[in-house]
Amino acid sequence: MDLITFLAIVVILLIIYNYVKDKVPDSLKDIHSISFFSMAISQLMKRGGNDKLYLRCKEYFEKDGVIKVKFIPLFSRKWVCVITDPVFAKEMFLQTDVFPKLIFNEIVPNSAAERLFSVNVVHSNGDAWKRYRRICNPAFKTLPVHLFVEKALKLMHILQKVDNKPIEFIKAYKFKYRRFTLDILGKLPLILILIKTQILSRWNSNGDLLELMIKACEDPDNQKLSDTELRCNLAILMVAGHDTSAVALSTLLYLLAVNKNVQEKAREEVLRVLGDDLIPSSEQHASLKYLNMIIRENLRLYPSVGGLPLRVVTEDIKLKNFLIPTGTTISLFVYGIHHSSKLWKNPEEFLPERFENEHDNYSWLAFGGGSRIYLGNNFSLIEQRIVLCLLLRKYEISLPQNSIHKNQLEFKSEIYPFPIDLIFKRRNE
Ligand code: HEM
Repeated sequence: MDLITFLAIVVILLIIYNYVKDKVPDSLKDIHSISFFSMAISQLMKRGGNDKLYLRCKEYFEKDGVIKVKFIPLFSRKWVCVITDPVFAKEMFLQTDVFPKLIFNEIVPNSAAERLFSVNVVHSNGDAWKRYRRICNPAFKTLPVHLFVEKALKLMHILQKVDNKPIEFIKAYKFKYRRFTLDILGKLPLILILIKTQILSRWNSNGDLLELMIKACEDPDNQKLSDTELRCNLAILMVAGHDTSAVALSTLLYLLAVNKNVQEKAREEVLRVLGDDLIPSSEQHASLKYLNMIIRENLRLYPSVGGLPLRVVTEDIKLKNFLIPTGTTISLFVYGIHHSSKLWKNPEEFLPERFENEHDNYSWLAFGGGSRIYLGNNFSLIEQRIVLCLLLRKYEISLPQNSIHKNQLEFKSEIYPFPIDLIFKRRNE
């Protein structure tokens, strides 16, 4: 038997094993399901975007508010209920004890990832979560705006060099921003964080997130974090904060490139509010109302976190005609809520004006909700506004004629679109 045949047999046996072991609980039987294979094939064919999942099951998402899927059966043989019901979302956000997060070693047991991230603010519950959150909080209250500005200006230098030629924005952005979250977190590669943690807990440093977190540990009201807890929390902040903002900005620039009227209106606002200033002051941030609507509408259409981290239900929960039994793993599908025609008029259209009026809190969930809401939403909004102000003043943004995104933005995975080339043409000021 050659190696390929052998491997094929092993895979088939694993699949059969998975199916035999995989008994769907009776109460989940009536919920529409997507098998692991079709999920895996979508991923392999790089067609794994949230848009594809949503379109495939739109009927069930809109009618039932839930489907069930199997993501990674070789690690965990659990079915996951993917939920798009805003009433359920509200319950979930308000009752964190009934819907605790799945902690890291339950998601990917005994993995390297588990060792790196085991105890962190995103995947913890109860008192541990409260402690991590209290310690992370001060760092997000005193944002290092000068660093946002410094990095945004460096980005402008790159764009200046490629004036009027297609450039993959996210690459330019990440080239200059690759170490950005890192800078804010502590100017060090991950592996050195532990060392820095130990050094810094003895000496002073330069006011970065790490130092602020260590100071928060010294607060008598907070119980000091262990080295592992500090390291894992810094690691998760780096992951949570890195590509989320970069991807959000690149999808937003794409939307401006294909909606020139919106781009023009946004530019007018930037020039009117900022006058000769390049960077918005804190009062000016508040006056950039149209820019804020654009940012929110972009995160509605393309939420950077399309499906929230997994939770497990600790008591039987009714969802429309279904009963989600105790012990079921769930994920709130923010993308599905944001694209629901029951909650949004013309949900597939880019219409920033829809945010002129207030809307139901549980139909826009780009930053999550309740007490587990993303603790630094200002962090991301300020970053996006600074970059947009600089770009809109200096450049006209357009999509190359031969772009693969000419008809719609194409995603290769849940988070990443296929590369988006954009043209930044210098404006006559
Ligand atoms: C466009 C940018 C971003 C978006 C759309 C976003 C979205 C989210 C969402 C939806 C949640 C809620 C997760 C849940 O309910 O389970 C969340 C949580 C969180 N995010 Fe972000 N995020 C962004 C950027 C960042 C950045 C820049 C950082 C840090 C440097 C960050 C750190 C966190 C942390 C620590 C949590 C956990 C909060 C908790 O459980 O108490 N995120 N984020």
